[in-house]
Amino acid sequence: MEYLNKRVEYIKNKHTNRDKDKEEFVKMIGYVANHEKVKEMKNYNHHSYTNCFEHSMHVSYYNYIICKKLGWDAKASAKAGLLHDMFLYDWHGYKPQNGERLHGFEHPLKSLKNARSCFNITEKEGDIISKHMFPLTITPPKYKETYVIIMTDKFCSACEVMDRFLNKKARVRNKNLKAMGRK
Ligand SMILES: [Fe+2]
Ligand SMILES: [Fe+2]
Repeated sequence: MEYLNKRVEYIKNKHTNRDKDKEEFVKMIGYVANHEKVKEMKNYNHHSYTNCFEHSMHVSYYNYIICKKLGWDAKASAKAGLLHDMFLYDWHGYKPQNGERLHGFEHPLKSLKNARSCFNITEKEGDIISKHMFPLTITPPKYKETYVIIMTDKFCSACEVMDRFLNKKARVRNKNLKAMGRK
């Protein structure tokens, strides 16, 4: 019985901590997420059913959680995570302009430029945004937080692409229920 009580207490604490993390994250990143130019990312599809804003939110949250656990700069990591793909166009079928390389190489710097037009961006945040595609972009990261986004960006992208297949049935079911007025 004592063991069970301890486990219940442990689970309760975990949930409380998770809620606190969520609150802190929202407080930390709210002003960035509510910026009109950042919200423009919602207009562009990114992976499968996920738009650029949603993808950036995913990356930002994982950056925050991981850096917080490691005692690294969670604030810079969360902010740069939300801005790392702020290139503001639909990259599907995008044709490089004169002298430009492919989207994969160019978009980190475009995102950084857009981020700078809205916020003060520190050197570390700039590093996280501009090198999140490493090793595709050859220059190695200067900050340990940049290595975190290299992982979270790829992880989130893979999950978002997989979501198309894994949740297909649920989406069809929800759509049918909605059509029948039962949801
Ligand atoms: Fe990107
Ligand atoms: Fe990304």
